[in-house]
Amino acid sequence: MRSNRIGMKLGLIIAAIFFIVLLFLGVSLYQMFSSFYHSEMKTEITEMTSHVSTMAETTEASSEEMMLTFADFSNVSMFYINAAGDITFHTGEHNPADRTFIRKEDLKQIFSGNAINLEHEDPLGHRYMVIGQPIYKDHQITSAIYVMASMQSMDKSLTAIRNLLILSGVGAFLLAMGITWIMALLFSRPLIMMQKATKKIAVGELETRLDIHSKDEIGDLAAAINNLAADLQRYRDTRQEFFANISHELRTPITYLEGYAKVVKNHMYETEEEKDRYLDIIYQEGVRIQHLVDDLFELAKMEEGKISLSMEWIDLRYVIHQSVQKVSLKAKEKGLELVVHPTKSVPFIRGDGMRLEQIALNLLENAIRYTDEGRIDVYLHHSSTMLTLSIQDTGIGIPDDELPYIFDRFYRVEKSRSRQTGGTGLGLSIVKKLVKLQGGSIHVTSRVGKGTCVSVQFVLPMMQEDQ
Ligand SMILES: Nc1ncnc2c1ncn2[C@@H]1O[C@H](COP(=O)(O)OP(=O)(O)OP(=O)(O)O)[C@@H](O)[C@H]1O
Ligand SMILES: [Mg+2]
Repeated sequence: MRSNRIGMKLGLIIAAIFFIVLLFLGVSLYQMFSSFYHSEMKTEITEMTSHVSTMAETTEASSEEMMLTFADFSNVSMFYINAAGDITFHTGEHNPADRTFIRKEDLKQIFSGNAINLEHEDPLGHRYMVIGQPIYKDHQITSAIYVMASMQSMDKSLTAIRNLLILSGVGAFLLAMGITWIMALLFSRPLIMMQKATKKIAVGELETRLDIHSKDEIGDLAAAINNLAADLQRYRDTRQEFFANISHELRTPITYLEGYAKVVKNHMYETEEEKDRYLDIIYQEGVRIQHLVDDLFELAKMEEGKISLSMEWIDLRYVIHQSVQKVSLKAKEKGLELVVHPTKSVPFIRGDGMRLEQIALNLLENAIRYTDEGRIDVYLHHSSTMLTLSIQDTGIGIPDDELPYIFDRFYRVEKSRSRQTGGTGLGLSIVKKLVKLQGGSIHVTSRVGKGTCVSVQFVLPMMQEDQ
């Protein structure tokens, strides 16, 4: 029953409301009937008493016979009572020994000209309605007449009505309970399903989905839970993949470090040059690990939104000049021609100088790394709305089907070749995030064996303000 708590609560509340309403209705109806019957009976007996007392006043004293017939006929008991309280005449079923209904104060009332009425219960438990009226003779009250009618049949009718009311009340209550129960089940079932689903999601069963498609708040909530589960699943998968990549990337240089350090330590080399070569490898791998760790920190900071940019007005020509100077030695070593195409002044953009240089350096290093011969051209041009930096090389190019993935973390087109040249596959994903953070966009076009062109575009701020 624990799993159906909402249903229980809903059911109990509705049951309590129904119970109170039905009880109130039943009691009111019963009282209405009861007072109706009482007043009907009282009117009838009062009329009868008046009738009898009039008869007794107008006819001779020898009306006892007539009274007897009347009492028999109307099924009532009659008593003539004198001022002293003695019964002078009695007719009807009621035992005259039971005189408790004759009370002094009532007689006083009657002999002072008023009528009285009361309800009386005899020793056997039978209930009677008693009406008392004065009898006048020559304008003097000579005696009192009491007419006593059994309330048995009225009580019977009222009991029948009460039973009927109780029966229909119980029936209505049970019916309402049944309907409430079904409704509570219908309402609580999706909630219970959601509760179970969220519990499963909480313990890591992220494939859990809810099959609730109603177009109401419950349906919306179920859809939100499904989305949450899907997001968590995606997050878990990418995180797992991310950690797998990191450990893979770290394991390789560490193996080199271990291997070559061991060779040097155990003097397993023949010449000093050989030893230097091994030490050089150790140094290179150390640098590679350093880069990897730096890049990972950078990415983590960006993904958590913790990176802070110091935005200022930047002349992109100056940034490019700085970056080209830094990589020109590398290009020269590979025999590549690195040409920056002169541009007249370009509009300034809002950006972080250091980060813009990081973008340019990454792209230039890629161009140099993946170009064996030929040239690298750097263009900077602008339209009325955009400033575009393009870096074009004559390198190995990127196959079309790989293009969509080059911005993914750790993605390298030619795994073995990149390893030789030292790439970890993090550069472009960092570049893309940095470009986005500064409001720009990045596009790559490439042809295998011909070369690659990477363009970074920034919307010009003046135009943004104008819009
Ligand atoms: N100009 C280019 N020409 C050909 N291939 C490229 C070029 N730029 C990037 N690539 C391909 O895209 C992949 C991803 O580039 P990215 O810069 O992210 O990583 P990386 O250069 O391998 O390593 P690093 O993290 O050191 O930059 C590269 O491994 C390479 O295969
Ligand atoms: Mg790179």
